Amino acid sequence: MNIKALIKIGISQVIGLTISAVMIASASAADEATYRQYQLERKADGSSYGLVLKTLPAPQPQAGEVLIKVKAASLNRRDIYALSGIGMGGARDMTGSPILSDGAGEVAAVGPGVTRFKPGDRVVATFDVKWVDGESSGYQPRNGMLAELAVATEDTVLPIPEYLSYEEAATLPCAAVTAWNALFKAAALKPDDYVLMLGTGGVSIFGLQLAAAGGGRAIVTSSSDAKLARAKDLGAFGTVNYRTYPDWENEVLAITDRKGVTNVLEVGGQDTLPHSIASLADGGHIGLIGGLSEGGFVRETPEDLLKEHNARLTNVYVGSSKDFANLLVFMAQHQIKPVIDKTFEFADAPAAFTYMEGPEMFGKIVVRIP
Ligand SMILES: NC(=O)c1ccc[n+]([C@@H]2O[C@H](COP(=O)([O-])OP(=O)(O)OC[C@H]3O[C@@H](n4cnc5c(N)ncnc54)[C@H](OP(=O)(O)O)[C@@H]3O)[C@@H](O)[C@H]2O)c1
Repeated sequence: MNIKALIKIGISQVIGLTISAVMIASASAADEATYRQYQLERKADGSSYGLVLKTLPAPQPQAGEVLIKVKAASLNRRDIYALSGIGMGGARDMTGSPILSDGAGEVAAVGPGVTRFKPGDRVVATFDVKWVDGESSGYQPRNGMLAELAVATEDTVLPIPEYLSYEEAATLPCAAVTAWNALFKAAALKPDDYVLMLGTGGVSIFGLQLAAAGGGRAIVTSSSDAKLARAKDLGAFGTVNYRTYPDWENEVLAITDRKGVTNVLEVGGQDTLPHSIASLADGGHIGLIGGLSEGGFVRETPEDLLKEHNARLTNVYVGSSKDFANLLVFMAQHQIKPVIDKTFEFADAPAAFTYMEGPEMFGKIVVRIP
């Protein structure tokens, strides 16, 4: 249904096309022999990782796979965590691991049995390498999109809507799908609902855009008044500086005429969760997503506090291929353009990580791949 809807609203690709053996053979033969990929390399003192650019033999797509000539990749907070070794295999040395889950590009070749894509198609890969529909079977993030080539199974690749560039499409797989899931799947956004976004990073800015397009009233917090002004321009109903107002739930409640918010995209974790709960309307919902605050991710569920609000808390994990397809239909209907803060060239990719660790970032950061 999602794919049909994509076609219906004019998104470029023809699905269900039969790929001939000739097409597979000629596409494979035309491939470059090598490609370049950024990998993690443990620093000499063992404390963290840096990035090294490696030249490797070009991969060939196997049965059911597409080979993508990556044109753009985008950073998420997990990629910054990876440089610290967090979420990358514990004490194990992750030197040689490819990096970045999010990327978009052109199909360079298809393996045997691929029916939905052909060379030349514009595609974006999903975050999870296995989760196509239904329930996820665990955390299986893609890695390796900060590279000139990448391989993906055809059911974890989607056509890019015509109105989006490669750079814009590359921002979507993790942050936008997570925001979509938290707004429309873990909860069910209704017009005029108050929805709370914490900070102005990738997930929150997509949350703001999607909530506003769905008729919701998005409230955004930030450490910066300048960023809050940008959030207003993007359609925020209300804004609160969480540094000026450490107990920012009072400001949030005032904005909602004391009703409280019906949903929170909780990206802050330990330090922000009590404030998020205090911002809730009776019967509200919290999508537990991240751990940006100094306290990091939430380790225990404060169920007693939630009971006071008769509220629900749902663990949100990005989303499936089907969720991504639904998101693309909604974005195309509302012509939503991702907010790209800054674009870096492939050769300068490490600078993108440095920028993301600084105070300026707003929305998404992209690396353009030649
Ligand atoms: N569960 C999942 O499936 C899932 C998916 C995606 C991301 N995540 C997690 O969700 C979090 C957000 O990811 P992201 O990629 O959107 O991050 P991001 O783009 O790196 O967000 C950075 C922004 O976070 C804001 N921030 C930092 N500390 C904050 C605090 N104490 N309170 C409120 N805002 C704060 C800052 O906004 P200001 O500069 O405006 O203050 C900063 O610009 C991360 O922890 C990530 O690992 C989880």
